[in-house]
Amino acid sequence: MDIFHTPGEMRGWSRRQSVLGKTICLVPTMGYFHEGHLTLMRLAKNRCDLVVVSHFLNPTQFGPNEDLDRYPRNFERDMDLAERQKVDAVFAPSPGQMYPEGFLTQVAVRELTRHLCGSSRPGHFDGVTTVVAKLFNIVSPDVAVFGEKDFQQLAIIRRMVRDLNFPIKIVSHAIVREVDGLAMSSRNANLAPEDRPAALSLSGALGLAREQCSRGESSAAALREKLEAYILSFPGNRVDYISFVDESTLEPMETVTERTVLALAVHIGGGKVRLIDNGFVIPRN
Ligand code: PAJ
Repeated sequence: MDIFHTPGEMRGWSRRQSVLGKTICLVPTMGYFHEGHLTLMRLAKNRCDLVVVSHFLNPTQFGPNEDLDRYPRNFERDMDLAERQKVDAVFAPSPGQMYPEGFLTQVAVRELTRHLCGSSRPGHFDGVTTVVAKLFNIVSPDVAVFGEKDFQQLAIIRRMVRDLNFPIKIVSHAIVREVDGLAMSSRNANLAPEDRPAALSLSGALGLAREQCSRGESSAAALREKLEAYILSFPGNRVDYISFVDESTLEPMETVTERTVLALAVHIGGGKVRLIDNGFVIPRN
């Protein structure tokens, strides 16, 4: 497995591979791998001849009071895990390589960034789209893989690819969960064992919403009230949002249909960790 630290080295490798007729699949990550990341790497291997994983804790997508300093890291362990998934190359630049002095450009998607995490984390998605656009230009993949756990991020990236004519196919994978239902996340490493029941309130709320819908409840407001009471019954929880949105426009919906995604963001343990989760309210077969 090759590891590159500069855009020039990475681009050179990609160019050589495409001259040889090889297809490349990119898996963008911020590191501290869990089974969700590893699943995306295996999916990538099925899609293309070669897999590139980017490993970059992107500072521009974190707000000033967010958890960049507390974000877990372990480069050696990550490289070991990536190698075991048969990843061909890792792109692991420093912040200075990605944002050299004088960096002034931003890629921003309008409208889709207004809701959900976009309103509670101002500027977050501009950081995401700018870094992902850079990664696309540096790696020049044929395919890029993203997880549905970050459902809004996926919708925004799909739109950016369409709007800016990136010749890249975006492939997604369903949320990978722990056996107890907790959506896997690098941030779960910052949860104390006593925070676990509270953290499980997100997947629990998804289950509760589905159960209520199957009994005939279709009012988003009524469902929201029940879910909020349930989530707040766990000490230390603070709701960021509980939103019923359309799967593609991300606009809030008043009545739940097959197109409705329930998106949740909750601060656990008195603000220690912010977790997100989502899913269709009316399960699809
Ligand atoms: P990161 O949080 O490291 O996630 C990397 C990829 O793994 C994303 O596509 C994310 O949706 C996916 N992922 C995370 N947890 C998952 C789970 N439980 N099941 C399935 N997929 C999961 O998302 C980012 O990094 C960054 O914003 C990035 C796109 C790399 C830009 O910096």
